[in-house]
This record gives sequence, C-alpha cells and structure tokens, in this order.
Amino acid sequence: MQLLKSLEELRAWRRQQSGTLALVPTMGNLHQGHLRLVEAAKDYADEVVVSIFVNPMQFGANEDLDSYPRTFDADCQALAELGVNAVYAPTVDDVYPRGLAQQTVVEVPGISDLLCGASRPGHFLGVATVVTKLFNMVQPDVAVFGEKDFQQLQVIRLMTQDLSMPIDIIGIPTERADDGLALSSRNGYLTTEERRKASVIYQTLQHIAGLVRSGESDSVALAEGYARIEEAGLNVDYLELRRRQDLLDADADDNELVVLVAAFAGKTRLIDNLQFDRS
Ligand code: PAF
Repeated sequence: MQLLKSLEELRAWRRQQSGTLALVPTMGNLHQGHLRLVEAAKDYADEVVVSIFVNPMQFGANEDLDSYPRTFDADCQALAELGVNAVYAPTVDDVYPRGLAQQTVVEVPGISDLLCGASRPGHFLGVATVVTKLFNMVQPDVAVFGEKDFQQLQVIRLMTQDLSMPIDIIGIPTERADDGLALSSRNGYLTTEERRKASVIYQTLQHIAGLVRSGESDSVALAEGYARIEEAGLNVDYLELRRRQDLLDADADDNELVVLVAAFAGKTRLIDNLQFDRS
C-alpha cells in the first residue's frame, strides 16, 4: 500500500495508473462502517485510494475539530489488511495553502441550509469544498460515501451533477451495532449510560416508518417519535420526514421518503436516517 503524503506524491502515483480508480474520502478514525465502504469500493474500480484528512473547513467554531479522534497508524494498518492500493493523507497546508479565509469555496444552495446545515451553518460548504478538492486531486472514476450521512451524500450528488464532474457517486448502507446504533467515530465520545440510551434512535426511526406505512399521519408519527427519543433521555435537535431526493418537506403524495434525526446524548450529537417507501 502506497502512503501518499503530498499532492506531488499523489499526482506521481496517479500518473502511473492505467485502470479505474475508486476514492473513499474519510476523516480517519476508521471503524467497521468505513471498512465496509472500502470493501464496496473494490467492486466499482480496479484500484482503491482512501483519503484521510480531518477537514477544518467543515467544523464550526465550537465543534470538536481539536479533539476529533486521530488514529492514523491503526487506520493505515486496517487499510493495508484490506488490500487498499494507496492512502492519501495531505496536511492542512497542502489542502488550503492560502489559508481557510482565502479559499475558493463550493456551495450547493438550498439543501445545504436544511437539517444538519441549519444546526451547523457552513458545514456543507466545508464538505462540498473539500470533496471537490479531493476529487480534483485524486481524479477518481468513482467515489464511495456512507448513507449514514444521507444529507452529505445528497449534497455531493447534486454538486457532482451541477458541476458536471465525471465521477460516479455510490452510497453504501449504514453499518450498525447489534442494537441498531449507526457506527460513527463520535460513538467513542459516549459514556456507557449514553451509549445504552442511544439505541432508541434507530428503534424510533423504524417505529416512525412503520406508523407512516400503516397509514398514520406524518405529523402524528413524528410527534410520537420525538416523545420516545426525549423520554429515553436524549435531546432531539431535529426529527424530520423528507423526500429522499432533495430533502424537501414530504407531503402525502410523496412515496420515496427518508426520516432523518439528529439528537444529543449528553454533549455528543448523533445523526441517523432510514429510507422507506410510503407504500
Ligand atoms: O464523511 C466524512 O467523513 C467527511 O465529511 C468527508 C466526506 C470525508 C469530507 O471531509
């Protein structure tokens, strides 16, 4: 496995390649969910490159950029065992040589301001900008993202389409613990008690989907879900039923739905979603 630490090294490696290339962008601290993305990526291209870059542009001023877990050596070992061809791990200066304030940005309007975008202003601007940069640096044929960050996936899909980027975007289903909790690097912040309570999140999404599919009104289903999560001791940031494609409000005629949630377990903000059809 090649370890590429600068854009020059990446470009030199890329020039030697002849087959197709899949990129799995990550911020490191890899768990089973990431490794599943890497496994899936192998099915879509001849070679796989994983980027590891904790992107400062997508963190808000009071968020966990400094404390975000960094486990680079263990990440590389896991990726080598999976047979990844290369890891690209640039520095902040490599990615933003003129500094964050001077950086040209990529904005996907509308969808970036909803849901997580409303709670984390500027987050999707940071994601869209770094993903564009990673695409231009790596020049992959395919890029693989987890459906756990469903809004991020749709932002990237729209961006790729709007900017005519010649890259196929693949979404991979969420990897879950036995009790249903979506795997996430931030689960490591949870106390034992918070971790136990957090299982209510996915159970509630399933419950809401069941209610809507059996004909209950969207608002009643969501209100019931909201109460369940709060009663379990978590604080709901948002719990919304949306159209899958553009994440706008769903009405009774919309069939392809996704229910999305963000909730705090103590100080840790967890997100999840469940896609389902109304009928
Ligand atoms: O999902 C993530 O880990 C990040 O948002 C991404 C896509 C690697 C961009 O920094």
